[in-house]
Amino acid sequence: MKMNEPLVGQPLDRIDGLMKVTGEARYAAEFPGARLAHGVIVTSTIARGSIASIDAGRAQSLPGVLLVMTYQNAPRLPNGGRPALAPPAGRHLSLLQDNEVHYNNEPVAVVIADTLEHATDAAHQLRIVYRDTAATLDFTRAKANAHAPDKPQGRQTDTTRGDFAAGLADGPVRIDAVYTTPIEHHNPMEPHATMAQWDGPQLTLYDSTQGVTGTRTAVSKTLGIDPDNVRVISPFVGGGFGCKGSAWSHVVLCAMAAKQVGRPVRIALERPQMFGPVGSRPHTEQHFTLAAKHDGTLTAMRHDSFSNTSMIEDWTETCCMVTRMSYAVPNQVTSHRLVQLNLGTPTFMRAPGETTGSFALESAMDELAWALKMDPLALRIKNYAEEEPQEHRPFSGKSLRDCYAIGAEKFGWSKRSATPRSMRDGHTLIGMGMATATYPANRSEAAALARIQPDGTAMVASGTQDLGTGTYTVMTQVAADALGFAPENIHFALGDSSLPKAPVSGGSQSAASVSPAVREACLQARNQLIALALADAASPIHGTAIDDVTVENGWVVSRTDPSRRDPTGAILARAGGKPIEVVATVKPGAEKQQYAFHSFGAVFVEVHVDADLGTIRVARVVGVYDVGRVLNRKTAHSQMIGGIVWGIGAAMQEETVLDPHYGRFTNANLAEYHVPVNADIGALDITFIDRPDPHINPLGVRGIGEIGITGVSAAIANAVYHATGVRVRDLPITLDKVMRT
Ligand code: MOS
Repeated sequence: MKMNEPLVGQPLDRIDGLMKVTGEARYAAEFPGARLAHGVIVTSTIARGSIASIDAGRAQSLPGVLLVMTYQNAPRLPNGGRPALAPPAGRHLSLLQDNEVHYNNEPVAVVIADTLEHATDAAHQLRIVYRDTAATLDFTRAKANAHAPDKPQGRQTDTTRGDFAAGLADGPVRIDAVYTTPIEHHNPMEPHATMAQWDGPQLTLYDSTQGVTGTRTAVSKTLGIDPDNVRVISPFVGGGFGCKGSAWSHVVLCAMAAKQVGRPVRIALERPQMFGPVGSRPHTEQHFTLAAKHDGTLTAMRHDSFSNTSMIEDWTETCCMVTRMSYAVPNQVTSHRLVQLNLGTPTFMRAPGETTGSFALESAMDELAWALKMDPLALRIKNYAEEEPQEHRPFSGKSLRDCYAIGAEKFGWSKRSATPRSMRDGHTLIGMGMATATYPANRSEAAALARIQPDGTAMVASGTQDLGTGTYTVMTQVAADALGFAPENIHFALGDSSLPKAPVSGGSQSAASVSPAVREACLQARNQLIALALADAASPIHGTAIDDVTVENGWVVSRTDPSRRDPTGAILARAGGKPIEVVATVKPGAEKQQYAFHSFGAVFVEVHVDADLGTIRVARVVGVYDVGRVLNRKTAHSQMIGGIVWGIGAAMQEETVLDPHYGRFTNANLAEYHVPVNADIGALDITFIDRPDPHINPLGVRGIGEIGITGVSAAIANAVYHATGVRVRDLPITLDKVMRT
């Protein structure tokens, strides 16, 4: 790396990488506590009903057991423990306030003991008798009672534009199809974990969370205590993907238990407990109608999406969002409906709505292309949306045409045959498919602190999170450029609710929200440092014109006469040895209403299908993305690898299987819940357009956490169709579905 070159964009190694591989990085369940006690959650074994009785006598008498907390003795919470914030900010939790059971695997008790072994043993000795009521577990049957959610994710439930019936009449080539995606469960390597410690009225939570501030707010409001008395610490998170975007029951239960036993308590969820009480991607059933003229011009589009929610809270997989903004179709109807089941409440899961919605939309577009005998890429370009078609706002930046063109070139799209099941290599059927990727470019208010210290280093901080995404690294790069300091002289802190507030690291918004705050705080601190030096008669740069002065590698220096230079440490020492400290808060402005902010991409996939056995391999994926300016080419590349690999998993493997009688998931473990391993992944070729978004923030940065997964499952389904002539509309695409003729 050359000196004076901006650090932003460079493929800097993760600054926390060494800490992670040496085990020095401390995760939530690794924080020590004096006389730390361990909590084990006991969950329900019925899907609906109530607890008739709990016999905790034997469990209570076992060695080391401190408390068996059930609905009979749990502290009563204000408002019955109901959410003090509207969902999804506050969730409907299971906090032992009554004896009702709403789903199988719902928390019904917590056993706290001096060791994890004692707590685990005692948890097995609890005798619970249930009153079982017939549960609703059949999506298809319950669909008859589907209801419209109220403003899911703050967006419109249903939309209409133009005249759908007239559009349908105008389009002689039509597609009518139903696509489904299964329930999926987030399985970050690090399951949820919390350690709660009370010091008088002060509660400290070490929690694996995507939002320290959100967790503080939700927990304090649920417990009925002052948020100022709650501090949430989360320096490292072993993956979040949405399930750690909410404070779930175990977090509040941990705080309640710690208070009751008067000792710090740690609760780490067991892997099977990841399947129920902490969210999932719901099952979706998506009805699509497309109509087009013979030249491919779309005349009508209809998308009705059904997804399951729980009995206790409405949570909607917003599948239609992608449909509303993707193509220049004048006549459109979209709707979301919820199907209540006796399951845990679903939640955000990597590109919630866009992952599932893009599967349906981009599969339907492919089906239409075949019906039109038109190249699927040409069909997309034919209906390219120059402006956001629902609200008629200009896109803040859209280089999707470049994504298509570069992707097609890199992939060799022109070599694709125009007939299904026509490309072959011996027993291997070869298929090529593509899809559009897209995800909103979100940004929220965020604050950051910059402190230039007398030793010549800088402490820069924000109450944001690093989920493994690279926040520590990219924010250090942004700070280094804005301050004019070397990255090794910057210490970036995050994951602490006592730091200046930042939003939840969800919705791909952290980079776009926090980087402008870090930049602003650092620029202001840098300007104060320069002013201090210029005003100081003892400084070698005293008297230099302010426009001539810059900061390089921690030295305030004259651009025209680099021999005139003054190191930060000396400047601060002469000024009394006090640090320079700035807190800056920045937020989006009027541009949010003026433009539609989205990222885009094009995904091209080649699959190899064994003609006799139906086994499918994704041989290669080419993805080209327009995500604004890339902060770090290496961590950004890793983000896209993660997204695409998950897309491959969602397309071909992932599926939580529900036992229709008992409402438990039958594959609630990492052996039977299939995700890709290295051997499942072929060549991934990822390109960034790297064009700054001129409107989103001063850095031109959009988030990249989620777009990578979008479009992948459709591109694979489309490639499988091209290879085999079999259209799979129900994920995952397993070999049995390809073998059927
Ligand atoms: Mo993301 S699913 O918004 O954490």
